[in-house]
Amino acid sequence: MYNWKGRDALKNIKPYSPGKGIDEVKAELGLEEVYKMASNENPLGPAKTALEAISNALQDVHIYPDGSSGKLKKAIGEKYGVYVDEIIVGNGSDEIIKLIAESFLNEDSNLIMGDPSFSEYDYAGNLMGAEVIKVPLIDQAFDLEGILEAITINTKIIALCNPNNPTGTVIDKENLLSFIDRVPNNIIVILDEAYGEYAGVDFYSGINLIKAGKGNILVLRTFSKIFGLAALRVGYGVANKNLIEWILRAKEPFNVNYLAQVGAEAAINDNKHIEDSLELNERGKTYLSEQFVKRGFIVTPSGANFLWVDTRLDSQLLFQELLKKGYVIRPGYVFGADTFIRVTIDKAEVNLGFIMALDEIIKEI
Ligand SMILES: Cc1ncc(COP(=O)(O)O)c(C=O)c1O
Repeated sequence: MYNWKGRDALKNIKPYSPGKGIDEVKAELGLEEVYKMASNENPLGPAKTALEAISNALQDVHIYPDGSSGKLKKAIGEKYGVYVDEIIVGNGSDEIIKLIAESFLNEDSNLIMGDPSFSEYDYAGNLMGAEVIKVPLIDQAFDLEGILEAITINTKIIALCNPNNPTGTVIDKENLLSFIDRVPNNIIVILDEAYGEYAGVDFYSGINLIKAGKGNILVLRTFSKIFGLAALRVGYGVANKNLIEWILRAKEPFNVNYLAQVGAEAAINDNKHIEDSLELNERGKTYLSEQFVKRGFIVTPSGANFLWVDTRLDSQLLFQELLKKGYVIRPGYVFGADTFIRVTIDKAEVNLGFIMALDEIIKEI
């Protein structure tokens, strides 16, 4: 028996159900090898420099970490030419998304996002009891005009992933600038650049806008993708110092653990690891794109480390059949796109094995 009543806002939220882990899939299906091409992690793994820094730091884990992640913020600031008070570090960028929601949203407000896009924005809006307005993508890209039209007097946040997850599409400089110019400056625009490092030389980061004085933009980045530190949980936000100071009010004292801080600080300056990761991704992207096109699939041009592909087949079926062969992908039906799959680009031999497995499946269905 119980007599408690939870907050109404939580009625709309289902607990996050993570994809199956490699060991779980191996045990369930009796497979020796399982390749996870579902969560956009770096197939090269973490930088060796990060591992060294973490192992040297292990002996100090009895001490509370620096609650402001000061050394890491300094390293981020030096790399991107921003001040330490323009940076917030979080337990993954997921935490920062939640902190922003806690800092700005309530039952009377709304958050606007594209659909499909990263589900944490939907979650964070719902958590605060805010309305989440979803503007459908057009041709797999954000409908920026539609988003502007969706703005109401109650809009507090617009969340844009650039590149977008799950589609990999990039907003180019011209469209971004024209969009930002038309957003009223009482609305926070989150530019989530979790995959920004993969987006190529022409990528225009929102950090440029912050440096130019735009006070309502917050750029999010993460160490979970190209830096290969997803398990450590560390991400960061860059914005005008007043905006950062407001969000810091919602932050817990010791939100980022010491090993994460130390590992991320080493990784951000390991240019060799970043270059190798980029090169591997570019080669894999070209290979996989060509293979998909040869099979009559439609590949969305991607600025990220994954491909969003219309197979015109049932994505749930493809997911299950690929799983039996040891390849875990993200089926499009979870994003409301039944014939699409999202595939993380892996090492050459894994990409090849994946295509071979796909061919066997296509023959059978
Ligand atoms: C667009 C986007 N933003 C943020 C995240 C979360 O990153 P983190 O691991 O830093 O919480 C992800 C993870 O998949 C993502 O795809």
